[in-house]
Amino acid sequence: MAAHRLVLIRHGESTWNQENRFCGWFDADLSDTGLQEAARGARALAEAGYQFDICFTSVLKRAIRTLWAVLEGVDQMWVPVVRSWRLNERHYGGLTGLNKAETAAKHGEQQVKVWRRSFDVPPPPMDPEHDFYSTISKDRRYADLSEDELPSCESLKDTIARALPFWDEEIVPQIKAGKRVLIAAHGNSLRGIVKHLEGMSEEAIMELNLPTGIPIMYELDKNLKPVKPMQFLGDEETVKAAMAAVAAQGKAKK
Ligand code: 3PG
Repeated sequence: MAAHRLVLIRHGESTWNQENRFCGWFDADLSDTGLQEAARGARALAEAGYQFDICFTSVLKRAIRTLWAVLEGVDQMWVPVVRSWRLNERHYGGLTGLNKAETAAKHGEQQVKVWRRSFDVPPPPMDPEHDFYSTISKDRRYADLSEDELPSCESLKDTIARALPFWDEEIVPQIKAGKRVLIAAHGNSLRGIVKHLEGMSEEAIMELNLPTGIPIMYELDKNLKPVKPMQFLGDEETVKAAMAAVAAQGKAKK
């Protein structure tokens, strides 16, 4: 029997999703479409009567703004919010800012799939000459991170390794205390949480693409194991099309 419900939402489309650029820790905002997606996600939650006690998000504005739109849409803007860099998108290293389709045309779709979806192969690191190095690495929001914590690139495995301590220490105790938790985060930090929750294999997680702006609901037992597959609060066709669109971002344009 389900003891808890957990809601995850990947941020709505960002301006860099729209331009099909690797974004990672770059702080791109939501596009107009992304804002609409977040509002639509909020409507689905409101219609189903969801209530939240605490929310978690990253320190990147596309996730924060998605959370704002959701809390506004469900009329629960007072609910406490905890932000952490540990829920950030995976750091895309030297690929940050590059167009995904152009990168596939240059390096091959297979290589781009390895960079985007392999479990433990990181993208090339972001070196100090990179256009966005200072913007990201010298940003004061990361000033408290140790040298080891501040990444120059991350595989999904690295992303999970820095997200899980936050999950275990901050989020799990809230769920176990009976709080209704909402997490607004990113494609890959959420894939990490999903892999952990479902005990998915490294191969299985490669094929999972999370849609933007569609709430995902898990029913969990008292040990926080899912009692059912994840449920999307959106119609099946929209969810399928949104997942396929994410997968297709790494195709070279014909
Ligand atoms: C990004 O950081 O570019 C996206 O938000 C996630 O990208 P991916 O689907 O290519 O991993």
